[in-house]
Order: sequence, then C-alpha cells, then structure tokens
Amino acid sequence: MGPIGIFDSGYGGLTILSDIRKRLPNYDYLYLGDNARAPYGTRSFDVVYDYTLQAVNELFDRGCEMVILACNTASAKALRTIQQNDLPKTGPEKRVLGVIRPSTEIIGQFSATKSIGVLATPGTVASKSYEIEISKFSPQCKVYQHACPSWVTLIESNEHQTEAGKGIIRQDVEILMDSNDAIDTIILGCTHYPVLKDYIESIVPTSVQIVAQGKIVADSLADYLNRHPWMDEKCTKGGSVRFLTTESSEEFNQNASNYIDATVNSLHITL
Ligand code: DGL
Repeated sequence: MGPIGIFDSGYGGLTILSDIRKRLPNYDYLYLGDNARAPYGTRSFDVVYDYTLQAVNELFDRGCEMVILACNTASAKALRTIQQNDLPKTGPEKRVLGVIRPSTEIIGQFSATKSIGVLATPGTVASKSYEIEISKFSPQCKVYQHACPSWVTLIESNEHQTEAGKGIIRQDVEILMDSNDAIDTIILGCTHYPVLKDYIESIVPTSVQIVAQGKIVADSLADYLNRHPWMDEKCTKGGSVRFLTTESSEEFNQNASNYIDATVNSLHITL
C-alpha cells in the first residue's frame, strides 16, 4: 500500500494535485517535480521517455502503487510505452495514468461550434495526441493546435507577470484564435498554463471558454478508483501530501506557493 504518485517535469503538476486533493482529500499523495531537468516540452521523444520512466520508477520505489503523469508532454511522449513495454515487466500490478485521455474524452462537450483550440508545449503539439484522441471521442470536432515554446520558462521564472511576458502570451493566443473564427473552446494542454487562465480569459472574446484540466483529471481519477476497488484498496488514506524535487528544495518550497495553496516542505532527490 502507498500514496498516489503525481509526477511533472516541474511545478505545473501542482495545479493538477491541487484539484485532485480537493476532490479526493482523504488519500495520501507523493509529488515529484523534475525541476532540475525542466522544461521537457522542447526535448526529444527518447529523452522525455527516459526521464519519465526514471521518475515513475522512483515513485514506485517509494511505495506508490499508482502514478499520475500530471504532465501533458510526458503523457504524450512516454505514457503509452511505459504502459505497454515497461509496466508488464516492472510492475504488472501497478498503474500509470496520464492527463490527455481524460481531457480529450470530454472536451467535445464544451464546444457548441465543435471547434476546439489547444495550447500546449511543442512536444505535445508535435505528438498530435490531442488531435488523435479528440477525433476518437468527438469525431465531429475540429482541432486547432498552437505550440507555445516559451510559456513554461516564462511561468517558472515568474516572467509571465511582466509586460514583456504578457506580450509573448498574447501573441501566441492571437495566432491560435486567428487560425479559425469558430473556436469557442480552448483547452490548456499543459499543466503549467492554468496560472495564465485569468489573463487568457481577459484577452479572448467572452464567448470563448478556457478549460483547465485539473478538475477533469480529478473527476476521472475518482471515477477510476471507484471502478477499480482493488487499486483503491492499495492507496493509503491519511490525507497527507509530500513533495520531492530534483532542484533545490528551498527554491521549490518558495515557488510552489504560486501553484498550490499548501505549505510545501520538499525533499531534494536525484534521479
Ligand atoms: N507541465 C508540462 C506539461 O503539461 C510541461 C512542461 C515542460 O515543458 O516541462 O506539458
């Protein structure tokens, strides 16, 4: 038995952890941010896969029976290989779940015009995961993607709040909006981006809804645990949350408060 593992390249997964804890407060959680090697969004498929597998194995070694990849880039580039090739060998009874599937399952329901915009890292956009998955669940929807190569770095350095940072973000949003007039729903396909939700809402027409993934992923996890009581029984329920980072723990503790409403006392680890 053990905590539910939550993994991200850096701080972004904290936005998902926050919503998961609101939905499932009784469980124990172990968060791992690979801050020393973030961002993942501009790295190759092989590197993202290697780093993600190392992180998943670390969380398994620390007792997790289930790990959520709270990172779209890792979900797009590493999840399938881990599920199909690694888990059968290293942990057939363990589970690794991502954030793209739950989001793409229901995003079609948000759009009246059936025109959905996706803002994500270059890695997630290049994987075409959103296009492919949305076409399975909502074949009537058209998907317009735009990669935002500098957003994660802007957010992690807090520069998204500066005029220069806002200018870059505005330009990316405009490129997406200009790709089709019918877009009425934009999914934030990177777990860092919810910190920009208010700003993006302020620069798009009010008819356009901006959807963050946290609540969707939290509802999907609750549903999964309900449908898989054997896994639910393996998840300890003490209401605790612990944090691991590959960067300096002081820096992580200080910055984490921008993403989650909790006192963070992290432990530095190496992968
Ligand atoms: N938060 C991650 C995601 O959802 C990516 C960040 C990164 O580029 O490292 O894609």
